[in-house]
Amino acid sequence: MFTKMLLLLLAFCTLSAGFASEKLIIAHRGASGYLPEHTLESYTAAYFMNADYIEQDVVMTRDNQLVLLHDIFLDRVTDAAFKFPNRFRIEADGSKRWRVIDFTLAEIKKLNVTTGFRTTDAPTKQHDRSQTTAIWPERFPIWKSGFRVATLAEAIELIQGLNKATGRNVGIYPEVKNPSQFLIEGKDISLAVLKELKKYGYHKKSDKIFIQCFNPIETRRIAEELLPKLGMELNVIQLIAKTSWNESYSIIDGKLIPYDFGWMLEKGGMKKIAEYADGIGPWKSFLLDTKQSARTGLTLLPMISEAKKLGLKVHPYTFRADEGRILTPAKDFEDMVSMFFYDIGVDAVFTDFPDRAHKVRR
Ligand code: G3P
Ligand code: CA
Repeated sequence: MFTKMLLLLLAFCTLSAGFASEKLIIAHRGASGYLPEHTLESYTAAYFMNADYIEQDVVMTRDNQLVLLHDIFLDRVTDAAFKFPNRFRIEADGSKRWRVIDFTLAEIKKLNVTTGFRTTDAPTKQHDRSQTTAIWPERFPIWKSGFRVATLAEAIELIQGLNKATGRNVGIYPEVKNPSQFLIEGKDISLAVLKELKKYGYHKKSDKIFIQCFNPIETRRIAEELLPKLGMELNVIQLIAKTSWNESYSIIDGKLIPYDFGWMLEKGGMKKIAEYADGIGPWKSFLLDTKQSARTGLTLLPMISEAKKLGLKVHPYTFRADEGRILTPAKDFEDMVSMFFYDIGVDAVFTDFPDRAHKVRR
């Protein structure tokens, strides 16, 4: 009797552990709920908060170096506008912006990185960065300490170094950011990212890496042209955005035209993605009816079942614990993560708070 109970208990523990480990935590821009995004400090914190993967958004400098910033601009998270007041471009909407592609790595390394602030503060208050307003006032205080922009190589060496020191195998999750913005200026950022990944030993499906991109023309190019050309096979994730965010552009007749993501939300959209990708990274609101108030008997949108039927991994973004970021009908952050993991059935979540998501998983 005792042996039987012990066996049952062991079977339960094994099943629970297996179920839990199927759910992945991707540290969104590192542990960005606690430290300035995409800094090595933020990645280190995420590493020790039990993230399975740590995300890197990758952009390119004037001298073709790969650096980690969410935007193609420097002016939301660095003091570029204060240190280099005349190095802006006037964008199509008339705003002054400081673009990564206009700076060398050596110049970018001189900048301080901080928690994100309103970019409209920079041009008008060029000589007084203390007047800037944090986007997340409850997070790490603005302009404190001494953070720097990291390169992709530095981030990989950090994570691989920690893997060696701890015996763990935490993965990386690089995103090729706005490739058309670089291609139109003669820079093949996707090819450069893949070459860097290969250099650091990521080249086969079983390696702990996902490569992601919003631009479907480029994601397909990565999967069908660039990876085979480089003798690599990696898991590729197609990100899905709302068209109105202008997250992606096509190059048509030498001009950048906002990309229409509409087809991805229509019937058959997942089938097209499954032709070239291993999974999707949708905005989390694309997966369920967000107007429902009952936590039980959730009404899901077709995307998730269609993706699952085709064997696509589903990694929605972004799970934040800050005020106003809890998606109904969840009651708080933990409930939201639990709802997506265990009621909706996603495979992973991108989160700014990997420690709290890990607690839900346990
Ligand atoms: O890449 C997926 C996730 O990071 C959400 O997108 O805009 O934060 O890069 P974003
Ligand atoms: Ca990203």
